[in-house]
Amino acid sequence: MKEVSALQTYRVLEPGPIVMVTTSDRGKPNVMTMGFHMMIQHAPPLIGCIIGPWDHSFETILATGECVIAVPGLDLAETVVDVGNCSGDSVDKFQRFGLRTEKAKEVSAPLIADCLVNIECVVVDRRNVEPYNLFILEAKRLWVNETRKERRTLHHRGDGTFTVDGGTLDLKDRMVKWRHLP
Ligand SMILES: Cc1cc2nc3c(=O)[nH]c(=O)nc-3n(C[C@H](O)[C@H](O)[C@H](O)COP(=O)(O)O)c2cc1C
Repeated sequence: MKEVSALQTYRVLEPGPIVMVTTSDRGKPNVMTMGFHMMIQHAPPLIGCIIGPWDHSFETILATGECVIAVPGLDLAETVVDVGNCSGDSVDKFQRFGLRTEKAKEVSAPLIADCLVNIECVVVDRRNVEPYNLFILEAKRLWVNETRKERRTLHHRGDGTFTVDGGTLDLKDRMVKWRHLP
């Protein structure tokens, strides 16, 4: 084994799809890119997200307690990186990147019509925002865009490199202990 810096741990344990997080700051929509997230609970569905104070989105999520998590396909790869390299402080990212929006049902943040999936979320636990920038979100509504042709997701390996989702392995028959899960 070759030892590498433990600071690179995130590069091997950050396998979930890269996502975009939308917010609405008094009617003005914004979007950021997020790689640090994890499922925490099945029901109600809880998601842990790291959103730091270096992001304009941080203040908006603190103030509104709402956001949308959108999962882009491979066709949005460059946009995903560019969205994460500029700030809603100074840029209207929906206009700059030509991302189309749709109204959400329960939150003021918009859905991204060009994404594969959109999850309407509300903040249910802020106890770890200080010191970890960790927001616990509850997924309220889940929207799947079945019209997108490109369905491969992107998985951030650090420093702007991504693994692209490949084939599917179906081992459902062996999941005998977990039949009750939805
Ligand atoms: C691939 C990628 C992954 C990122 N992951 C996160 C993350 O998990 N948490 C975070 O706070 N910022 C993350 N960022 C940085 C934000 O997307 C970036 O700071 C963005 O400019 C914030 O936008 P805003 O200021 O409009 O909120 C990531 C950026 C990239 C390019």
